[in-house]
Amino acid sequence: MIFKPFLIALGLLSAAQAIKPFTWNKQTFLLHGKPFQIIGGQMDPQRIPHELWTDRLAKARAMGLNTIFSYVYWDQLVPEEGAWETSGNNDIARYFKIAQKQGLNIVLRSGPYICGEHEWGGFPAWLSEVPGMVVRTSNKAYLEAAKFYIDHLGAELKDLMITNGGPILMAQVENEYGSYGDDHVYISSLRDMMREAYGIPLYTNDGGEESMLMGGQIAGALAETDGSPQTGFAARNEYVTDPSSLGPQLDGEYYVTWLDQWASNYTHETDVGNTAAIKQVTSDLEWILKNDSSFSIYMFHGGTNWGFQNGADWGGRAGAHNHEL
Ligand SMILES: *[C@@H]1O[C@H](CO)[C@@H](O)[C@H](O)[C@H]1NC(C)=O
Ligand SMILES: *[C@@H]1O[C@H](CO)[C@@H](O)[C@H](O)[C@H]1NC(C)=O
Repeated sequence: MIFKPFLIALGLLSAAQAIKPFTWNKQTFLLHGKPFQIIGGQMDPQRIPHELWTDRLAKARAMGLNTIFSYVYWDQLVPEEGAWETSGNNDIARYFKIAQKQGLNIVLRSGPYICGEHEWGGFPAWLSEVPGMVVRTSNKAYLEAAKFYIDHLGAELKDLMITNGGPILMAQVENEYGSYGDDHVYISSLRDMMREAYGIPLYTNDGGEESMLMGGQIAGALAETDGSPQTGFAARNEYVTDPSSLGPQLDGEYYVTWLDQWASNYTHETDVGNTAAIKQVTSDLEWILKNDSSFSIYMFHGGTNWGFQNGADWGGRAGAHNHEL
């Protein structure tokens, strides 16, 4: 261990501290001070047997991705109130360490609500039995439960944050919250909680429409969109004016295909053999790259919903594609 005052005297610390490990300017992300385009793909550790993590991450790197976007499932980490379960597929710190070894960065999507086509958007079932609970609002019982989860996750991943030499670049606050509500007291409480627990830059990710961006965007977090990059980027440029939410454009979920649904009337969703769909994907991704912007392919690898961890549609029977809970 070298004594800090000694380094400061040599001028070493002040020089190192001048360059933030990850930040952005108006146009571009900056990784260790250099322009950085996020070539990302989504892959959630808790949907993949941990024995296969190295193999899947190596394949992502081999495909040319430089960043993995990962949802984290609260219900698996906190299966009972007050519990903290990080063995096997829940050892997400290990997954992020393997990613770093493979040369991949991480974007952390820890909700607490994630949607993610996961049961109740990642909320633990026991939340529904807590008296006075109102999820996704500035409700006391809910915020206390969320804080337990976020604080424990922050402690678990502390050494893996970019600020401590780890691969985790930034974290998302909530998930497409503007599609659900506009309680900005709630979103800013989460932002503050995450800022304290994670200590890394934060962003929000909403659908590329005015009401969604206005509902989900919050000062001090970079506002990003998902879906069509052309309409999403244009909407962000048009509707978000707070300079503390402006910066490079990231399509946080570029859909290469759609999800499968359990019902006899559905067919398997795939682009295989669909030349028109593949052409659309390649031209969109080329457009983003030429635009000096960033993307995350949703999904790079989907994995498996174990047990009853799959999400379900709400707002009508089968066929309502718009509300996956
Ligand atoms: C499936 O299709 C049949 C025939 O069109 C229809 O009667 C039935 O309601 C559909 N089932 C669902 C779950 O949508
Ligand atoms: C990226 O696209 C946006 C929206 O169409 C446009 O305003 C901007 O000038 C483009 N930037 C570059 C570098 O091409």
